Amino acid sequence: SNDRIAAIKSTLHVVPDFPKPGIRFLDITTLLLDPKAFKDTIDLFVERYKQKNISVVAGIEARGFMFGPAIALAIGAKFVPLRKPRKLPGEVISEKYVLEYGTDCLEMHVGAVDPEERALVVDDLVATGGTLCAAINLLERAGAVVVECACVIEVPDLKGRERLRLHGKPLYVLIESRFEPTS
Ligand code: PRP
Ligand code: MG
Repeated sequence: SNDRIAAIKSTLHVVPDFPKPGIRFLDITTLLLDPKAFKDTIDLFVERYKQKNISVVAGIEARGFMFGPAIALAIGAKFVPLRKPRKLPGEVISEKYVLEYGTDCLEMHVGAVDPEERALVVDDLVATGGTLCAAINLLERAGAVVVECACVIEVPDLKGRERLRLHGKPLYVLIESRFEPTS
């Protein structure tokens, strides 16, 4: 699996000064362009979670939607989208959170998750951890048990792992690394 992880890592790119000067944007779209790396990414998560009695995969809009549904299908779980405000048509619960650049909010449909269901939260990356904490809060307010949060990449200097630990939630990432900007 170390070989697969190294190959996945080699598909990723850092875009300097996007979306604003001083921000180093970790781009996962180049991973999606490589079918082998994309499949290995999904397979690594599936191998970890297939025997964990997970009935809910909650994916975070937008980039969590690129990985969550494939994992859900492979482990036989339902997929629940956690969406940005005013996108879901039914009754919702909402959680506001602070981002590296600005504030945002996630919403989940009431009734999407049943009490005591075992849930996995999926996103592309963890930076400050604010997004994952909002997702965990939504699921726990619905009575679900959050088994773990899974991301492709961790930005280590932004303390997301520490924040998740304070929240008492395990975080699993395929890649924890600093990247040099590519030109
Ligand atoms: C990015 C990324 C994570 C989040 C991580 O999403 O996809 O969801 O930031 O940051 P945090 O750990 O500091 O909370 P973003 O809100 O930029 O939007 P997108 O997924 O819709 O592109
Ligand atoms: Mg996101």
